Amino acid sequence: MSDQRIAIYPGSFDPLTLGHDDIVRRSLRLVDRVLVAIAGTATQMKDSTFSVDERVQVTQEVYADEPRVEVVPFEGLLVDFARQRGARLIVRGLRAVSDFEYEFQMALMNRSLWPEIEVIFMAPASSYTFLSSSLVREVAHLGGDVSAFVPAPVLRELVRVYGPAASGA
Ligand code: COA
Repeated sequence: MSDQRIAIYPGSFDPLTLGHDDIVRRSLRLVDRVLVAIAGTATQMKDSTFSVDERVQVTQEVYADEPRVEVVPFEGLLVDFARQRGARLIVRGLRAVSDFEYEFQMALMNRSLWPEIEVIFMAPASSYTFLSSSLVREVAHLGGDVSAFVPAPVLRELVRVYGPAASGA
């Protein structure tokens, strides 16, 4: 158990997109287990569309057939949660140069809070570099088809909230 390499992939995942999923699957090539850690309301800096429970449930459904992925909510400092769970590697996706500054600040802050943590940045598939959760929500809200951008269980939830046009119906 303690020999296992565990990576933590934190975020809001409001909702999880195929871009996030791409990072999860790439991470599985590097480590034994990936902990998808969904920031709770007290931890998050922005308002969410889906509740933490909804985000956790739908993301668990996405990885139901992948025993190496665990989906969990977390509150408080990410490094404290990582330490509790025995994860010494934080994974973050870098889509564009614009992501870099914020990510670099967070990485250095996290490392000064817990020097044993390492942070790795992964590039998603180029076809997903324009994707973000808020764009997916906005397009769904305005009646656009987002079926090419999210896993099936997430699409079902978007249809529930925004109506059938989200799936191109
Ligand atoms: N594909 C598609 N979209 C991606 C993506 C990818 N590979 N990677 C990031 N994004 C998007 C997200 O969809 C999100 O879009 P949105 O802003 O439109 O919703 C945006 O990029 C950033 O979101 P996310 O990756 O979820 O990060 P976040 O900034 O919401 O999460 C935490 C930040 C939760 C990891 C961070 O605040 C944290 O660790 N909090 C815990 C408290 C703490 O320890 N604070 C000190 C940190 S130094």
